[in-house]
Amino acid sequence: MPTIRAVPIGVGHFLPERIVTNNELAKTVDTSDEWIKTRTGIERRHFAAEGEFTSDLAIKAAKNALKNAKISANEIDTIVLATSTPDQTFPSTATKVQAGLGMTSGFAFDIQAVCAGFAYALTTANSLIVSGQSKKVIVIGAETFSRIMDWNDRTTCVLFGDGAGAIILEAQKFEGTSKDRGILACDLSSDGKYNDLLYVDGGVSTTQTTGVLRMQGQEVFKHAVGKLAESGENAMSKAGVTSEDVDWIVPHQANLRIIKSTAKKMSVPMEKVVLTVQDHGNTSAASIPLALSVAVEKGQIVKNNLILTEAIGGGLAWGAVVFRW
Ligand code: ACO
Repeated sequence: MPTIRAVPIGVGHFLPERIVTNNELAKTVDTSDEWIKTRTGIERRHFAAEGEFTSDLAIKAAKNALKNAKISANEIDTIVLATSTPDQTFPSTATKVQAGLGMTSGFAFDIQAVCAGFAYALTTANSLIVSGQSKKVIVIGAETFSRIMDWNDRTTCVLFGDGAGAIILEAQKFEGTSKDRGILACDLSSDGKYNDLLYVDGGVSTTQTTGVLRMQGQEVFKHAVGKLAESGENAMSKAGVTSEDVDWIVPHQANLRIIKSTAKKMSVPMEKVVLTVQDHGNTSAASIPLALSVAVEKGQIVKNNLILTEAIGGGLAWGAVVFRW
């Protein structure tokens, strides 16, 4: 049956200029390159410059995606931006991006699902396209997590970085089979009783401050692998594919040990897993589009590849999306 699919037609990313290695961090934080690398796989991360905001990173990533798709900003009718580090409490960072791209029509809004933000944003964009509301959507993940670190908490401040990635999805008609290009299936979950495992200790309605990130790392770790693998399996089953059909897993880049255990649980070898955690650290909602863009740039991901993305973060919120490039 003819089906409308949300098909990727362009991808791009942007990383702030400043790279901070583990050794550089160890000059001001009681840590070491060896500890960070062994526990997380992270070797370096990028930090935004003073005065460089989430919207700035998002606009640059979006411009790179538009260039990659060879289309102009005015052809885009929707911006869905996943972030937990917006420029302002309101309006949305997405509307700043809309202005920054010079768009004079369409609509733009933010999505907040922390590290699972890009899976939620892709799912939302897919629904907008499949329903006929939108024709060309730019889906962005952009974060400046360096702004919500407690630099005295060595268990969290070594994990995160800043960056942005964007992909452009276009409505196209296909046969309605698992061979179609575009988004084939989405699977989202959250469980609010785990709020205390990963949160920011400030907010508009509570403290009227921004707050800093707090995490019970080992507890998050315990939930991560099982929930990610289950969501990945659900998405594959909904799409009518198996792990053998998957060309690439593009996981949320939080921790190499979580990535490896999740891939193993889903019976996907590490040669099929895109890894950028060593270079970017955990960039929350930006990590998946950043990894996608890097993998396309390197020639790893090519047209018709079947991709599984999965992510988990504060909420807890998690999810997976299966799509064909
Ligand atoms: N450098 C050196 N030593 C450290 C550091 C550091 N940066 N941080 C902690 N330690 C020490 C601790 O003090 C502790 O020392 P002690 O044994 O003398 O008390 C020891 O290392 C072990 O600490 P743990 O917290 O038990 O370390 P663990 O092995 O659990 O690793 C980590 C911590 C890396 C955070 C791990 O729990 C983890 O990866 N959890 C998952 C978190 C995650 O990936 N979150 C992201 C998903 S959600 C999202 O993306 C927002």
